[in-house]
Amino acid sequence: MGILRVLSTSALVIGVAQALVTKDGKTGRLPAMGFNSWNAFKCDISEEVFLTAAEEIVSLGLKDAGYEYVNIDDCWADLDLWRDNSTGRIVPDYKKFPDGINGTAAKVHEMGLKMGIYSDAGEKTCAGYPGSLYHEEIDAATFSDWGIDYLKYDNCYVPDNWTDTYYWVIDTYTRVYEAPYSDAPADWDWSATNTAERYYRMRDALAKVDRVINYGLCDWGQALVETWGNATGQSWRLTGDIGPYWNMLMPIVSFTSYKLEYGNFFGHNDMDMLEVGNGNLTEAETRAHFGLWAAMKSPLLIGTPLDLIGEIDLTVLKNWEFIQFNQDPVFGESVRRFKWGNGQDRGWKNETMPAEYYAGPSVRGIHVFILNVLDTTQLKSFDFSEVPGLDPKKKYKVHDMWTHKDLPGTYSKKFSIKVESHDLAGLLFTEVKKGKRSLFDGWF
Ligand SMILES: *[C@@H]1O[C@H](CO)[C@@H](O)[C@H](O)[C@H]1NC(C)=O
Ligand SMILES: *[C@@H]1O[C@H](CO)[C@@H](O)[C@H](O)[C@H]1NC(C)=O
Ligand SMILES: *[C@@H]1O[C@H](CO)[C@@H](O)[C@H](O)[C@H]1NC(C)=O
Ligand SMILES: *[C@@H]1O[C@H](CO)[C@@H](O)[C@H](O)[C@H]1NC(C)=O
Ligand SMILES: *[C@@H]1O[C@H](CO)[C@@H](O)[C@H](O)[C@H]1NC(C)=O
Ligand SMILES: *[C@@H]1O[C@H](CO)[C@@H](O)[C@H](O)[C@H]1NC(C)=O
Repeated sequence: MGILRVLSTSALVIGVAQALVTKDGKTGRLPAMGFNSWNAFKCDISEEVFLTAAEEIVSLGLKDAGYEYVNIDDCWADLDLWRDNSTGRIVPDYKKFPDGINGTAAKVHEMGLKMGIYSDAGEKTCAGYPGSLYHEEIDAATFSDWGIDYLKYDNCYVPDNWTDTYYWVIDTYTRVYEAPYSDAPADWDWSATNTAERYYRMRDALAKVDRVINYGLCDWGQALVETWGNATGQSWRLTGDIGPYWNMLMPIVSFTSYKLEYGNFFGHNDMDMLEVGNGNLTEAETRAHFGLWAAMKSPLLIGTPLDLIGEIDLTVLKNWEFIQFNQDPVFGESVRRFKWGNGQDRGWKNETMPAEYYAGPSVRGIHVFILNVLDTTQLKSFDFSEVPGLDPKKKYKVHDMWTHKDLPGTYSKKFSIKVESHDLAGLLFTEVKKGKRSLFDGWF
């Protein structure tokens, strides 16, 4: 059954996919996993940051767990030299990268990992370095020559004549949710906007180089990116920047929980880089953060200095059960909300109280994830009839994806579990087959 299912599902995917699948037919099919410098280092980067991250990814077992990209964020170019006046190429900052970006990439590739870089669909990057608008082709060719495998493409310094007719702004950073967040007519075609066009230009430039470069759009959800992101890149940011605080994680969860149907193979809602290891997240909050990012099939890009990471954070980042759910080869869709918790649907504008109950299938069975947004431990319950894929008439074994142990006994009809404040339960339900008799049944 397993093999048949794999064959038929992938045949279907190839059938509808065609135009948007990456050139090698595999890059970007599943959410990207790796490291990005921004959350921990901001502009304070050098080759050493990336070589250290790469070495740690290998030695800590993160490479074996599936992490592969080592991504440079903003501030890698030379602010004075800008672009080479004869070739038009961006000049890297050789004080930070003495052997050039290509030199760093060669060393990262040597370790069996991939190299990512950052640019911007405007005249400058957010930190004021050269942007790629009007230079898409030369920049794509340069990145390709350097051995780049991933491009994060930001949205700062957009010239006035490229602004959209209508706005659509989602800002979880300042948490400005006041309506109207858009002034466009309800049937407005966001895929024909100037914002979309700026991102198509780099998509088309990347298509011309003979290297497969995973294309991550970072327009913070503007111009309703989820409606054209899948035709453009392999992931798209939905919100403003993340921060290492619970009250900055929950707005992202809240908002993304209304966009889950846009994600599937080759196109992923990007909830921003992980803050595991940063700030003051508790152990429970760290589990909930990583677990929800994995369950909602966001890219999993570590954003902390790996040479300083603690055991608890590392164990969370290496949890093979959540990684396997995120990277499932057969089921491309993310979890879905199946019940709110604490009363009725409060909508995505509720910053700190997103829905608490999510479920989705993997090759292993049906998974249920339960978040506790309150400040005290809660008993959380649901009926099997509420969960797509669970049959209230059948018996199930329940497995805890954090402890890696089965819960004692079998369960049917309903299930309850205590969830700590700001924690996330991760459960796998597998049916107990009836009438399976041992060879010796009835012999004695
Ligand atoms: C996004 O595009 C890919 C590749 O064409 C396709 O497999 C996937 O189903 C699309 N996602 C959605 C949500 O339509
Ligand atoms: C290119 O020309 C500009 C303006 O003359 C100059 O500031 C810059 O340093 C030059 N860049 C290089 C790489 O020579
Ligand atoms: C990087 O590019 C420079 C300039 O084109 C070249 O001299 C150098 O050999 C390259 N380094 C590697 C590791 O390919
Ligand atoms: C904005 O102006 C530039 C330079 O004149 C032009 O190349 C570009 O096409 C304009 N953008 C739009 C969306 O019209
Ligand atoms: C973490 O920091 C935030 C913001 O400064 C604060 O509101 C919160 O109480 C802190 N949480 C913990 C667990 O220390
Ligand atoms: C979010 O939901 C909680 C619980 O219902 C409510 O107390 C709070 O006021 C809501 N916040 C917003 C911004 O709607």
